[in-house]
Amino acid sequence: MKAFITGGFGQVGSHIAEFLLARGDEVMAIDNFATGRREHLIAQDRLHAVEGSIADKELVDRLVGDFKPDVLIHTAASYKDPDDWYSDALTNVVGGANVVQAAKANKVGRFVYFQTALCYGLKPQQQPIRLDHPKLPGNSSYAITKTAAEDYLELSGLDFVTFRLANVIGPRNVSGPLPIFFQRLSEGKRCFVTTARRDFVFVKDLARAAVRAADGTGHGTYHFSSGTDVPIIDLYDAVVEAMILNDYPEPEVRPLGPDDTASILLDPSRTFADFGDIRFTPLKETVRAAVEYYRAYGVSGGYTHLKHEPGKK
Ligand SMILES: NC(=O)c1ccc[n+]([C@@H]2O[C@H](COP(=O)([O-])OP(=O)(O)OC[C@H]3O[C@@H](n4cnc5c(N)ncnc54)[C@H](O)[C@@H]3O)[C@@H](O)[C@H]2O)c1
Repeated sequence: MKAFITGGFGQVGSHIAEFLLARGDEVMAIDNFATGRREHLIAQDRLHAVEGSIADKELVDRLVGDFKPDVLIHTAASYKDPDDWYSDALTNVVGGANVVQAAKANKVGRFVYFQTALCYGLKPQQQPIRLDHPKLPGNSSYAITKTAAEDYLELSGLDFVTFRLANVIGPRNVSGPLPIFFQRLSEGKRCFVTTARRDFVFVKDLARAAVRAADGTGHGTYHFSSGTDVPIIDLYDAVVEAMILNDYPEPEVRPLGPDDTASILLDPSRTFADFGDIRFTPLKETVRAAVEYYRAYGVSGGYTHLKHEPGKK
């Protein structure tokens, strides 16, 4: 199979690429290295790596037209600075429209997308959130622009799967509290946690499901979620345990910030019905794998999609 992966050197994209390459597929990975890193994928014959932006329509049209992929896996996203609307709009909206249209023009058989749970707003109307919850992305530039691309995908008539995600973590994770906890604890600095709860899923579990989606499982919208949430302090404790720290500052527990959501729990029932039972890797194992990665490659990022998120200061 030939797979075109946008953001192929990012956390999710590189894990999908590794699974596809390992079974003999051919992969073209485009990345502008905004948050991805070259060392995430080992150079090999069946990997065609292109440095460039999906906002470059001519480039996307040429690459997709020449490569003629069977599947387009769109993981590239901009989110580094909540105030940088231009970059978010350029990558997520213009870039998203470019890859959707290139897939359509080249009759690509499958399209796999990754949407943020922030599309449901900061105060979701249900817990767990069902797939028919209205889209309310007005909380952030990231959610607005990610939702625009998902809307284009729905408009396109392509055969697609979109996985709506809450917190995907593991090796190569550069956003959210995990890299911040690791970095601050490495420097002996105190972290803060809120009372929020989250459903942390292991990136490799998602990548396995994405490969199945690329192969033809599922149609339309899914929540990739275990269906259970844990307090963020559990993540903190797992980082402390994985780092084998004897002496570390106790975290400060703060109430929820103004744009923090108490819990983001996505109803996974449609995913379980169509993808079968998914084995979710336990949090401690996931965090151990992430800590191993940070130790080997260092921490870059620690980005937040919203202005206030646990861990930062
Ligand atoms: N990680 C999560 O918790 C989470 C949650 C919800 C949704 N998502 C979505 O999942 C997808 C993958 O996320 P991730 O965690 O792997 O993030 P990531 O930052 O590790 O990967 C994104 C990749 O896209 C690349 N990129 C950014 N702008 C680009 C551009 N203009 N052209 C080409 N490449 C570009 C980056 O360099 C990076 O390699 C994203 O679409 C994200 O919105 C992730």
